[in-house]
Amino acid sequence: MAEAHGALRPQELAALGIDPAQVLDFSSNCLVQAPASVLAAARAAPLESYPDPDCSALRARISALWGQDSVVVGNGAAALLWACVSAYSREGELVLCHRHSFGEYANAALTQRRRVYCVQQAIAERSLEPMYEALQRRPALVFICQPNNPSGRLWPEQPLRELIAQARRQGSTVVVDHAYRVFACPQQRFAHYDGAINVYSMTKDFAVAGLRLGFALGDTDLGRFLPPWSASSAAQAAGVAALSDTVLGALEQRILIAKAQQAQLWQSLRANGHDCLDSDTHFGLIRVGDADGLRARLLREHAIQVRSARSFGLPDYIRVCTRAGDDARLVAALGRRET
Ligand SMILES: Cc1ncc(COP(=O)(O)O)c(C=O)c1O
Repeated sequence: MAEAHGALRPQELAALGIDPAQVLDFSSNCLVQAPASVLAAARAAPLESYPDPDCSALRARISALWGQDSVVVGNGAAALLWACVSAYSREGELVLCHRHSFGEYANAALTQRRRVYCVQQAIAERSLEPMYEALQRRPALVFICQPNNPSGRLWPEQPLRELIAQARRQGSTVVVDHAYRVFACPQQRFAHYDGAINVYSMTKDFAVAGLRLGFALGDTDLGRFLPPWSASSAAQAAGVAALSDTVLGALEQRILIAKAQQAQLWQSLRANGHDCLDSDTHFGLIRVGDADGLRARLLREHAIQVRSARSFGLPDYIRVCTRAGDDARLVAALGRRET
């Protein structure tokens, strides 16, 4: 089975006899280190009582920063994306997504007995025209990943707004997944699309994937489709700390540095003959041939983990995310590509 997500798998590493602490993980798109104040806030959170079911403090802060009233907090963006399927489509109705995109859109829809139509287009192609045309199928729900995972590329803004407007006219809901938006546009963290449900992840740039935290803007009713206590006390406290002006300011700088490091990584790999696709973020795709085979070899021989893009329908590509000082080890392990 194709791996559905990046990040280390303790069971796989145990079978290979590899110590997880030795592995360099280029397969996850999260920043490597969480801000100290965010970790401290999570650790200080009271664990003896139930979390605030309304996530009041965090929602108030998000509301103020994004200028939006309808805020729903969830156990990671993934939980909210699943809830969107329940909230905006019914059994048997159609859900649209891109074939080469985050797998949870189709997964959530199929598991909840929706029909799924995946728009198929070349991964380097950035036109939303095929998705626009697919609206004629009258979907209940459309998922757009902005910027797209696994390519790291932004869809063009104006066509996306037109797509949302057309979907609205015909009664389809568009969910825009902003999980990596801040990595593409660090100065536009607070962007959203009117007329769409906007889903944000707080696990990637704040580097707290283990805590699980995300939120959605656009419809408070979405909250009815989440279980109660949809974010733990630790996650809520970390979220409030993460959205302080100080942390946001420092993070913007870190993201700009990560983008520059990704550009440097791409330059080194291209100089060695590798076929790296353009990306707007700190991660991107490299065409390597047998991605699964290469992933296994890098792990076995170099304790380096990359993401095979086979589950995205791209078995010839690996996806990698810069790890700054460690990038040279990936470049060395990949070596020269003979053409
Ligand atoms: C595009 C995209 N959206 C959402 C998620 C889920 O994010 P979270 O960790 O907040 O659940 C991921 C995780 O990999 C992702 O790649």
